[in-house]
Amino acid sequence: MEKYAPLWEPLQVGSVTLKNRVVVTAHALQYAVDNLMTQQSVDYYEERAKGGAGLILTEAQAVLPNSRGLAPRTHQGWDPAVIPVYERLAEAVHRHGAKVFIDLSHFGVEDHSSMFLDNWRALWSASGVPSFTYNEIGKPMTREDIAELARGFARSARNAKTAGLDGAEVHAAHGYLLCSFLSPLTNLRTDEYGGNTENRCRIVLECAQAVRDECGPDFPIGVRLSLVEGVPGGIDGDEGERIARHLADSGLFDYFSISAGNASTFDQVVSPMSMPGARLVDLAARAKKVVNGLPVLTANGITDLSIAADIIEQGHADMVAMTRAHIADPHLISKARSGREQEIRHCVSANQGCINRMAQGWSLTCTQNPAAGREELLGIDTFSRTSTPKKVVVVGGGPAGMRAAEVAASRGHEVVLLERDDRLGGQIRYAAQIATRGRWNVMVKDMERQLALHGVDVRLGTDATVDDVRALAPDHVVLATGSTWRTDGFSAKTAFRPGIPGLEHVRVLDPIQALANPELCGERVLVVDDTGEYTALGLAETLAQAGKTVEVITAGMYLGEKILLTLDVGHLYPRLHALGVTLTPQHIVGAVTEEGAVLTRVWDFQNRVLPVDSIVTVMLRDPETSLAAGLREHFDVSQIGDCSAPRQVDQAIYEGEMAGRAV
Ligand SMILES: Cc1cc2nc3c(=O)[nH]c(=O)nc-3n(C[C@H](O)[C@H](O)[C@H](O)COP(=O)(O)OP(=O)(O)OC[C@H]3O[C@@H](n4cnc5c(N)ncnc54)[C@H](O)[C@@H]3O)c2cc1C
Ligand SMILES: Cc1cc2nc3c(=O)[nH]c(=O)nc-3n(C[C@H](O)[C@H](O)[C@H](O)COP(=O)(O)O)c2cc1C
Ligand code: SF4
Repeated sequence: MEKYAPLWEPLQVGSVTLKNRVVVTAHALQYAVDNLMTQQSVDYYEERAKGGAGLILTEAQAVLPNSRGLAPRTHQGWDPAVIPVYERLAEAVHRHGAKVFIDLSHFGVEDHSSMFLDNWRALWSASGVPSFTYNEIGKPMTREDIAELARGFARSARNAKTAGLDGAEVHAAHGYLLCSFLSPLTNLRTDEYGGNTENRCRIVLECAQAVRDECGPDFPIGVRLSLVEGVPGGIDGDEGERIARHLADSGLFDYFSISAGNASTFDQVVSPMSMPGARLVDLAARAKKVVNGLPVLTANGITDLSIAADIIEQGHADMVAMTRAHIADPHLISKARSGREQEIRHCVSANQGCINRMAQGWSLTCTQNPAAGREELLGIDTFSRTSTPKKVVVVGGGPAGMRAAEVAASRGHEVVLLERDDRLGGQIRYAAQIATRGRWNVMVKDMERQLALHGVDVRLGTDATVDDVRALAPDHVVLATGSTWRTDGFSAKTAFRPGIPGLEHVRVLDPIQALANPELCGERVLVVDDTGEYTALGLAETLAQAGKTVEVITAGMYLGEKILLTLDVGHLYPRLHALGVTLTPQHIVGAVTEEGAVLTRVWDFQNRVLPVDSIVTVMLRDPETSLAAGLREHFDVSQIGDCSAPRQVDQAIYEGEMAGRAV
């Protein structure tokens, strides 16, 4: 039997036959221009169809002009101007035997009412309960509004059908407008749209009925539900089940897409690295019992085909979303089915390139896969072997150097990779030592397999010098030597001083030293964060787990400013509080004295002395460029990753990919 056989079984969804059970569910790409889908999206979806996905959902297509402000590039489905690009989408996806459904959404109060000058309006809501995210109060919808909404759903679905898309999903999950009607927490109405389950479902059924009336019986319609919202007073499992049963009994739907969460619990929708596993499978199994045999889809955290196949085999669901798995590797299915499973690149669930960017209104890409969103430039068909093989030396085996070596070697170059350490991975290996962050190692392992596959000559324990490189006589050198962490306490926010005065009174460590030798930290540790990223808080958790008393300070407004949108904070903060870690925002270390670290509030310079054994500075990094000038005297050099400018692993991988392609 073929490996993962349950996944490759076709599935009937209404009138449509899906060739397999693997689905790429709706996810915001934000490649729109003038709020309409573009060729960039078509290319993105085609890549995933090419790779073997059975069903692709478009990103949310707003059903009315008054739901345009979720993000600057929110897609609109109601406008007939979208039909030509939908046609191209249908053709592109169908070329590879996949199906494509439109995701029909209205964001309700999870929207910005004043983003566009031509579109100021009151947001729509069930009952005027404000947005969890933005706290804006919406106008309770009138019956006329509800009728207009249903017409918006119908018109948008018609555009999709006219263009040849295969079906539609009514989005009633995640706290958006229809979900806010389903939820007893946000629907306080006393009319026929509020109160009992049946009434709260009414608007969903009216919207679905309008789509059915417009598109006919042969156009599959699904519904996406949060079976639980994960907040007190919201939809719980029993209510979710009642909702699913009532909607199924209507006979309007051809499948159920079971998710969870609302805007305040979005970490249940797109779980971050510290919430591993396929967490919502039980909900799908629960829904399956009440939806009259209709197909049920489960989503979230299914990173591997083996997990996906298991879910189908056990009968917990009929379809599995592998959405981020396909962002990270659109060809994972074709690789698995053609005996190249070793080449799959796995989603690491750090949420940096996808949901974090999307939540800022930026275009989606992927930490692991810089080709995501750049299919025209970097998609599978753009890959070419070199006609002039060269000898390439890569100095530095972190993410940047590994990717450069892999890509250059896969194009036919002879590649030698020199790494000072006795293992590959660079700094991201230390990131993987942080509590709950071990999945970073998956990235390193993926690249290690590729290096072996493409015959890269990896030389560990080699602290390369210019002479070492010259001895190898390369045609091209890639310099990827990373960065070093500063421990002088210099910060751009206190640029008036060269660093923290008095550091000689205390042991000062950088994060790598603290992770490598936690015992050096002593018992009382102050972590100073100037980055807002995961490292300082993750390090604090790791040290606190080792029994240390830890306080973390930042000059910023709150700790973890850059990981709110990766959806980490909601889980990390409770863990830190449980461990007794003190979080102190809006403070700097004014000085260190024999009594301890003087913590200074940034607004009024009020001081507090904290006795400490050590300070860990998670602050500036300097690029490691000591070889750069010497190498440039002799060779053509690409300088990439942190040794160009210390940033994140996303940029390191991107620059590695580009350097490997450029040589
Ligand atoms: C604790 C920690 C947590 C982090 N968490 C995150 C995170 O959550 N998200 C994120 O995006 N980023 C994170 N980072 C940052 C991320 O790891 C780096 O941005 C990324 O590793 C940069 O990749 P690089 O290949 O450019 O450099 P590096 O990873 O620094 O790799 C450079 C390599 O070059 C080698 N080298 C240097 N000089 C020589 C020489 N002369 N000869 C041979 N080899 C040499 C080094 O040994 C090293 O292996 C974290 C970093 C740390 C330390
Ligand atoms: C960048 C991004 C944007 C998303 N946007 C939406 C959305 O607009 N509507 C929606 O229903 N789900 C959205 N999702 C959730 C996905 O459809 C999916 O349920 C989620 O990613 C979990 O599945 P996975 O672990 O396979 O990625 C989004 C996910 C990501 C990563
Ligand atoms: S950016 Fe990270 S979490 Fe998102 S799909 Fe890529 S690897 Fe997965």
